[in-house]
Amino acid sequence: MTQEAHVTQGPLTTEAGAPVADNQNSETAGAGGPVLVQDQTLLEKLAHFNRERIPERIVHARGAGAYGTFTLTRDVSQWTRAKFLSEVGKQTETFLRFSTVAGNLGSADAVRDPRGFALKFYTEEGNYDLVGNNTPVFFIKDAIKFPDFIHTQKRDPYTGSQEADNVWDFWGLSPESTHQVTWLFGDRGIPATLRHMNGYGSHTYQWNNEAGEVFWVKYHFKTDQGIKNLTTDEANQLSGMDPDSHQRDLRESIERGEFPLWTVQIQVMPAAEAANYRFNPFDLTKVWPHEDYPPIEIGKLELNRNPENIFAEVEQSIFSPAHFVPGIGPSPDKMLQGRLFAYGDAHRYRVGINADHLPVNRPHATDARTNSRDGFLYDGRHKGAKNYEPNSFGGPFQTDRPLWQPTQVTGTTGNTEAPVHAEDNDFVQAGNLYRLMSEDEKARLVDNLAQFISKVSRDDIAERAINNFRQADGDFGKRLDTAVQALRG
Ligand code: HEM
Repeated sequence: MTQEAHVTQGPLTTEAGAPVADNQNSETAGAGGPVLVQDQTLLEKLAHFNRERIPERIVHARGAGAYGTFTLTRDVSQWTRAKFLSEVGKQTETFLRFSTVAGNLGSADAVRDPRGFALKFYTEEGNYDLVGNNTPVFFIKDAIKFPDFIHTQKRDPYTGSQEADNVWDFWGLSPESTHQVTWLFGDRGIPATLRHMNGYGSHTYQWNNEAGEVFWVKYHFKTDQGIKNLTTDEANQLSGMDPDSHQRDLRESIERGEFPLWTVQIQVMPAAEAANYRFNPFDLTKVWPHEDYPPIEIGKLELNRNPENIFAEVEQSIFSPAHFVPGIGPSPDKMLQGRLFAYGDAHRYRVGINADHLPVNRPHATDARTNSRDGFLYDGRHKGAKNYEPNSFGGPFQTDRPLWQPTQVTGTTGNTEAPVHAEDNDFVQAGNLYRLMSEDEKARLVDNLAQFISKVSRDDIAERAINNFRQADGDFGKRLDTAVQALRG
């Protein structure tokens, strides 16, 4: 019996498959009397309903996803030995989940927030997940600050709302956030749709080729639809009228056959250049300016198939920055290192120990061959096969070839800041971004920031926040100061 026939045809049944005689009236002791425990249809239905929700993602709870195809358009074998990147024209199935960061599962789409851009490549060497955002940088540069940062974005434990005091207190005291905050309150902070924005891998990753040479790589996904954004007023109105605006737009455009497309580019830094590059190349609050490492086009990403069941395929989808394939690996970026732990841990809590076995999550172009067994909802897929290695029964064996190349380290252990390179400071790239903007863009940026900062209850918190932008650019700080003063009266 096919899955479709199972769920849509024939008599209604209980979970155990027995026919249900009455789905309108529960069984009582006499008409008007109390309900009987022997009405297992009622009890099973209520009990199942109570368990329909799994924990929402602690961040990026609100999202939409679609399947697609990645096509390689350039030979990249000089930089990586990943098989899905081995031949021009080669196609790989993908699944992409977009999300906002701070809002809960039922929150509105059109808000000012970074957008998640989590991409799974179903490759013949296992699933490769690139769990990025629509911004090339991030607010902080050490994973140890992430839970504090997210606490300030989410609901305050006393008021139950997001609080301007918490947001600006943290950003003011974390000057490394200035670049990302300048980006977020600029025009791109509220994309018009999920199709009209770019995606970025954000972190630096390691690529290594057949000869074992190492390259540091950043990924860019440039929208072929063009960038389109909403103003704060447009977004506020849309959020009220149609909280699902982005989710709907994505689904409907794919249903119409208008498949969203992104041009995939990489920036490549030979390993030997990392130590003396003007910025720490593993600092997530910095970009590599294009004049230093020009983007190289390597492929196209198209989304062309909607999921059939949002819960099964979007809510239960899992993406991990630790899902690498041969030829690709992590960099020493301290944020990325923390993320290598956090996601698998979240998946085990949120979806369970066998989350990787679900159709959306399991490899599609190869098989997973592990000796892990059992646990909640284990489906017995390994049948009677031996569950240990090494074994003499033809079981899976180790390859002796690491996915990525080792990196050299020196020094002693300790709670240390990542190394500061010649031109590194918390403000230089935020200032550069501001100075690139047109006069109109600057005006909107200052207004967006001022509207929010003016809600802060304490002058010292507002002043510290403004001072970060002053250090990025004198004119930026002055205009913001004036705008906040005017609003605070
Ligand atoms: C150390 C810093 C970070 C930590 C500890 C962290 C942790 C997490 C956790 C626990 C989740 C929920 C996973 C789940 O329940 O399935 C998540 C989701 C996500 N994070 Fe992070 N995160 C960090 C930084 C970042 C950065 C820098 C980016 C982007 C560049 C990012 C992008 C995402 C995306 C796109 C998702 C949603 C994935 C999905 O669609 O399922 N995160 N993060």
